[in-house]
Amino acid sequence: MNIDTVLERLHAYQPPENWGGHIFLLPEQVMRDIYQLILDQGLTQCLELGTGFGATSCAICAALEERGEGQLTTVDKYFHQPVNVQVLMEHVGLDLKHLNIVADELGYNWYMSDLLKTQQEENTTPIFDFCLLDGAHEWEPDALAFTLVNPLLKPGAWMLVDDLDFKLRMIPNWQESHGNHSDRELDTFQMRMVYDLVVKQHPEFEDFNMTHNERIGWARKKAPRKESWLKRLLGR
Ligand SMILES: C[S@@+](CC[C@H](N)C(=O)[O-])C[C@H]1O[C@@H](n2cnc3c(N)ncnc32)[C@H](O)[C@@H]1O
Repeated sequence: MNIDTVLERLHAYQPPENWGGHIFLLPEQVMRDIYQLILDQGLTQCLELGTGFGATSCAICAALEERGEGQLTTVDKYFHQPVNVQVLMEHVGLDLKHLNIVADELGYNWYMSDLLKTQQEENTTPIFDFCLLDGAHEWEPDALAFTLVNPLLKPGAWMLVDDLDFKLRMIPNWQESHGNHSDRELDTFQMRMVYDLVVKQHPEFEDFNMTHNERIGWARKKAPRKESWLKRLLGR
């Protein structure tokens, strides 16, 4: 399914009355760019840390459907009600076969501990070639999330960090949700800290870029460079 159709159908979605939420939690242009990245780079195994209501999951699954292969594992603490990823996928008309929904009240770091354990015990290779980190938006869980996802990412995998320009005090009702946090926690761009101090410092990553008004941080896990054909010819 093309991305215009996905976005058009998401816009047409009528949530139940009295539901005060907003399904678009990423700018549409970011959703388009993720969709295109998946198609252009041939990414098939995708991980979304923080499902929200599932709008971006729809964009990712549409790209996988277009490719005819692949799987999105999307992880959240909650399977939100009444609006959630399954509701939106069905509304848009996307096949659920490309989607693996994980709702784990302990959060994605505990979920990734299970994946790492399996990888270690069964001596399997890394699984994912794309990860969007868009969940807790706090230094401690998300610095750890990047550390845990790294061994699950294949060489050449793309890592996207959302909300580098966000701080908790920007939440309209921050007193209700984060009133017990310190001023330092409330007024720090915590995802920017994760990106600058953890992702960009990691020796296994490269291709660091910020886009969409410095909201999104990109990184790519290094892949062994193939010796070029020309280099071989010249060295003969
Ligand atoms: C901004 S929303 C995700 C938006 C979604 N990626 C999209 O583009 O539509 C953040 C979500 O992360 C979830 N979340 C927060 N902390 C989490 C954690 N430690 N583990 C799993 N999910 C978490 C929240 O429940 C919320 O649904």
